[in-house]
Amino acid sequence: MLMELPKKYSEASNSFFLVYLQVIILLSYCNLQGLNMFCLATKSPVIRGSVTDQLALLQFKAKITGDQLKIMESWNSSSHFCQWRGVACDRKHQRVTKLEQQFLKLSGSLSPYIGNLSFLKGLNLANNNFYNQIPQEFGRLRRLETLELSNNSLTGEIPSNLSACSMLTFVHMRSNQLKGEIPASLGLLSNLIHLRFYNNSLTGSIPPSLGNLSSLKELHLALNGLTGNIPETLVRLTNLSFFSIGGNAIFGIVPVGMFNLSSIRVFDIGVNKIQGTLHSDLEITMPYVEFFSVRENQISGQIPISISNASNLNVLDFAVNRLSGNMPSLEKLDKLYKLFVSKNRLGHGKEGDLNFLCTLVNSTKLEYLYIRKNNFGGVFPDCVSNFSSTIMFLAVGWNKILGRIPDGIEN
Ligand SMILES: *[C@@H]1O[C@H](CO)[C@@H](O)[C@H](O)[C@H]1NC(C)=O
Ligand SMILES: *[C@@H]1O[C@H](CO)[C@@H](O)[C@H](O)[C@H]1NC(C)=O
Ligand SMILES: *[C@@H]1O[C@H](CO)[C@@H](O)[C@H](O)[C@H]1NC(C)=O
Ligand SMILES: *[C@@H]1O[C@H](CO)[C@@H](O)[C@H](O)[C@H]1NC(C)=O
Ligand SMILES: *[C@@H]1O[C@H](CO)[C@@H](O)[C@H](O)[C@H]1NC(C)=O
Ligand SMILES: *[C@@H]1O[C@H](CO)[C@@H](O)[C@H](O)[C@H]1NC(C)=O
Ligand SMILES: *[C@@H]1O[C@H](CO)[C@@H](O)[C@H](O)[C@H]1NC(C)=O
Ligand SMILES: *[C@@H]1O[C@H](CO)[C@@H](O)[C@H](O)[C@H]1NC(C)=O
Ligand SMILES: *[C@@H]1O[C@H](CO)[C@@H](O)[C@H](O)[C@H]1NC(C)=O
Ligand SMILES: *[C@@H]1O[C@H](CO)[C@@H](O)[C@H](O)[C@H]1NC(C)=O
Ligand SMILES: *[C@@H]1O[C@H](CO)[C@@H](O)[C@H](O)[C@H]1NC(C)=O
Repeated sequence: MLMELPKKYSEASNSFFLVYLQVIILLSYCNLQGLNMFCLATKSPVIRGSVTDQLALLQFKAKITGDQLKIMESWNSSSHFCQWRGVACDRKHQRVTKLEQQFLKLSGSLSPYIGNLSFLKGLNLANNNFYNQIPQEFGRLRRLETLELSNNSLTGEIPSNLSACSMLTFVHMRSNQLKGEIPASLGLLSNLIHLRFYNNSLTGSIPPSLGNLSSLKELHLALNGLTGNIPETLVRLTNLSFFSIGGNAIFGIVPVGMFNLSSIRVFDIGVNKIQGTLHSDLEITMPYVEFFSVRENQISGQIPISISNASNLNVLDFAVNRLSGNMPSLEKLDKLYKLFVSKNRLGHGKEGDLNFLCTLVNSTKLEYLYIRKNNFGGVFPDCVSNFSSTIMFLAVGWNKILGRIPDGIEN
């Protein structure tokens, strides 16, 4: 029969037969070796993907040099890799969708094979001791939504190829030793909600392209070595609720539109080299702001009166600048917990300078009131006796305050 078939059919059936034989041989080999998972892999593309995932996980494991809690011991052939600790798969394809190994005292470097986990949506390796660089291969994780690498010992630069992970919503890399610049290409991640590079050694300036991240709610770049200006483009981030660039070496002026970011809850530009002049009639339109700090900069001018409308403030910090003039009324700030205006040139050295203190009598949460090293004059007002008993720290030294300390202070 076989001989009578046209040549191509016979070849086809021959090769079919050969493959069939190979599968049988492979399967029996597999059964012998107890390696079912790997061997079944030759059957279909789905399973082939699954082999790639298994190999990537084994490569991840191979780079782990420290595992005090013996977490990786469970990653062995006695169970399918979808059952390994910290691994989650999708049911249909048996592909890895999550790799989560946080707070497990793991150390090691990050294998570039992780970039082959093409179904990965969530990678969380926070609070371990992973070191060396973040591989550019992470840019191949096209389904990645959450990248959480905070609090490790990662060095090198932020991989620019992450810009290809267009599904990313959370990028958290706080407390590592990352250096170099923030890649401008991250401005392409249009789904990004959090960008958190706080506490690294990043340099260069904030890329203007970040102003294109229209979904961004948190931009946390504090405690780095960033320089340059605050890009004007950031005023477009109308959904931004957390903006912190504190503890860098950023200079220039604050784009005036930043004071109009009406979703802001935390605004922290403290401890930089920011200059410019505030005006008492500057409109600060931040109805939800809870934390506002411009401390330790070189800002001159007056404290804007509009800050008195920010009735959700817990922390208001203008300390260590070159501000002068009057303090605004603070009577609406009844949630205030810390008020710092020390080390400025506030007040006129005259009676009346301290009237603003009496606008704080209804701030029942106030604990810290620091007005020292200014130019406040006059007699310390009696209303201090009506201050909330929550006050723990009252610093008024190095001013031009006269007369006697009111008896009511004992309250
Ligand atoms: C293999 O993993 C299982 C849990 O999945 C664990 O109980 C077993 O001890 C591991 N085997 C070895 C040799 O570590
Ligand atoms: C996975 O990634 C590594 C390193 O990035 C690469 O060498 C390898 O060929 C990739 N592919 C598969 C199918 O494992
Ligand atoms: C950082 O991770 C270590 C474990 O490596 C943990 O003990 C520490 O609490 C973490 N720190 C923060 C701030 O999460
Ligand atoms: C990084 O992205 C570039 C441009 O898409 C690509 O050519 C390169 O192969 C990527 N690198 C890695 C290691 O994936
Ligand atoms: C910053 O990160 C280092 C580790 O890189 C850590 O020891 C330190 O506690 C972190 N500081 C803050 C303020 O989070
Ligand atoms: C922001 O996006 C627009 C449109 O996609 C683009 O033309 C522009 O160059 C981007 N801006 C920056 C600063 O990257
Ligand atoms: C801004 O936030 C609102 C409310 O959370 C949301 O409906 C809207 O889609 C966000 N805008 C963008 C561009 O993400
Ligand atoms: C602030 O917002 C108001 C109202 O939305 C607008 O009229 C004003 O031009 C904005 N100011 C700046 C500096 O962006
Ligand atoms: C405070 O808010 C009210 C109501 O929105 C507004 O009319 C007033 O002009 C604001 N005051 C300042 C100083 O911004
Ligand atoms: C404090 O609250 C009382 C009672 O509500 C009110 O009469 C008084 O005007 C308030 N004082 C200030 C400075 O807000
Ligand atoms: C303290 O508050 C009470 C009640 O509001 C008021 O009568 C009194 O005058 C206040 N004392 C001072 C010194 O402001």
